[in-house]
Parts: sequence; C-alpha cells; structure tokens
Amino acid sequence: MPATVHPLSPAIGAEIRGLDISRPLTAQDLAVVRQAWLDHCVLLFRGQSLDPDQQRAFVLQFGPLGGRKKRIEPDGYKRETGPDYNSDAMLVSNIREGGKPIGVLPDGEMWFHHDMSYSPTPNRASFLYSIEVPSHGGDTMFSSMYAAYDNLPARLKARVEGRTVLQAFDELQDRRIDLTARALDSVPHCFQPMVLKHPETHKRAIYVSRLMSHHVEGLSPRESEDLLEELFAYTEDPAIRYTHVWKPGDLLMWDNLCSTHARTDFPKEERRLMRRYTIAGEPVIPAWDAQTAAE
Ligand code: SIN
Repeated sequence: MPATVHPLSPAIGAEIRGLDISRPLTAQDLAVVRQAWLDHCVLLFRGQSLDPDQQRAFVLQFGPLGGRKKRIEPDGYKRETGPDYNSDAMLVSNIREGGKPIGVLPDGEMWFHHDMSYSPTPNRASFLYSIEVPSHGGDTMFSSMYAAYDNLPARLKARVEGRTVLQAFDELQDRRIDLTARALDSVPHCFQPMVLKHPETHKRAIYVSRLMSHHVEGLSPRESEDLLEELFAYTEDPAIRYTHVWKPGDLLMWDNLCSTHARTDFPKEERRLMRRYTIAGEPVIPAWDAQTAAE
C-alpha cells in the first residue's frame, strides 16, 4: 500500500499512514514523505517499533546525521546509556538511575524553540520517537513559522527586516537563561537572522523563540524585549499550532527551519522516555539576502 498523507491541522503537521519505517522506504514512498515534509513541516508516523539502529537508518534516508556536543558531567556521570541508546542518539527522559536522569531535557514544560538555533549550523531536522509516555501531559506543540511570518502586520515585517537576534541556550534549563547572571561565553550562542529563507521552499519563516532568543542586535534592552514579546504573540498563536499527544511507538520528524516546538508539563513521578536523532544543517539563510529581495 502506498504512503498516504493526512493533515493534522490547518497550519502545520501531517500524519503519514501505510508505512513501516523500520524498513528502508521505496523510492516512491520516500518521495511522498519528502514532499509532505516540505508541505507540512512536521510529519507523524504512528504505531512504529524501532530499535536505535532502525531509527538511525530511517533518519539517514533524509540526510547526514547531525552532531551535538555531549555534556560532560563534573562528577564523571555518563548520561544516555542502555538498550534504548546508541552513540548517535539523544535520550530525552526524566527516568533517573541513582538519582540522575538517564537523558537530557528531563522534566516538565519547555518553552517554544528551534533545536540548536544557538549554533551557526543548526541541525536541519529532528526525529523524536516515543518509548514510554506519561498518562497525561508531556505533549509536544508545533507552530508554523511560515504562518507566523505571513500573519505579521506590515509594521512588524518592516521592524524585523535585516535584523539579527542573539540565540543562546543551556541544555540543563527549560527556560530562557538569564544573560545578566551568566557569562555569554559559558553557553553556546550565535547571532541569527530574525527571519530566514527556507533553502528548499524559498518561503520566509520567523526564526525567534521564547526559549533561545535573547536580544535583537542594535536595539536597547527595552526595545528588544518589546519587539520579541510582540513577535511571540504571532509565533505562539494557537491558530497556527498542532499539539501532539504521544502514544508509545510514535515518531515525529520536524523541520527546524519552518517550525518551533514546545513541551507541556507532565507529572514528575511518571516516566517519559524518547529517543532523538537529527540531521545536519547549513548556515541559516537570511530572508533578506540579495537573491531573496530579487524574487
Ligand atoms: C525537544 O525539544 O527536542 C524535546 C521535545 C519533547 O520532549 O517533547
């Protein structure tokens, strides 16, 4: 049966049905999935059974694996081991062994963000697979950054045109870090365009988020905060979102250039175990480069 595509919300997300992604995709199915991914930014595959190597093999059909700096614990504690893990994976989990989480991004709510926007070459896409999920909460919300840009009034489009924003993040925090209390050099960071041009669709997408975007270059702290808050009203608008309620065996793949995501809170005492791989990306293309302006 060929793969079929079923939109999950008006602005973002589609479910792909009819595929067992533990096996290599046919050229025809891969073409359907790739096109759906460009059209919908986020794809869902339900009811999958994937060991780490099968998940990695699926991901590799979309590009080379993305890198990530693994955190070295001061006491030598090695996170991310065990049967659900291989060395290219990232475990997102609140499960604790000896009092320490076996994964990263362990607990509770996470604000909206693009994965790795603080890197000069952010990973293009993330592939998150659910192994254990809590009885409620821990949902992942996705928001379309194409729709967010399209919905901006002309006044705000003019305000962001040509501007860059400082992106920074500490993997141990689920809130924006306070850069008045932390040395910038102690966390990964870089300046990024506030609006990007997608390398394949050539559409414009907002590239700011509540978790990782800190300061708009060239504005005073007050002006910068005001502008970011105004933008967040568009980037977090429920009308351009899809909220995914996880079941074990779901795989979500998302394009970090046209979507942001956030996680809802969930009970601390319940287990949540997800496995993530990424594919590598290129430097982000500003929306206002010479070629885009000419289009
Ligand atoms: C992530 O931001 O990659 C984690 C999302 C989640 O745990 O739902």
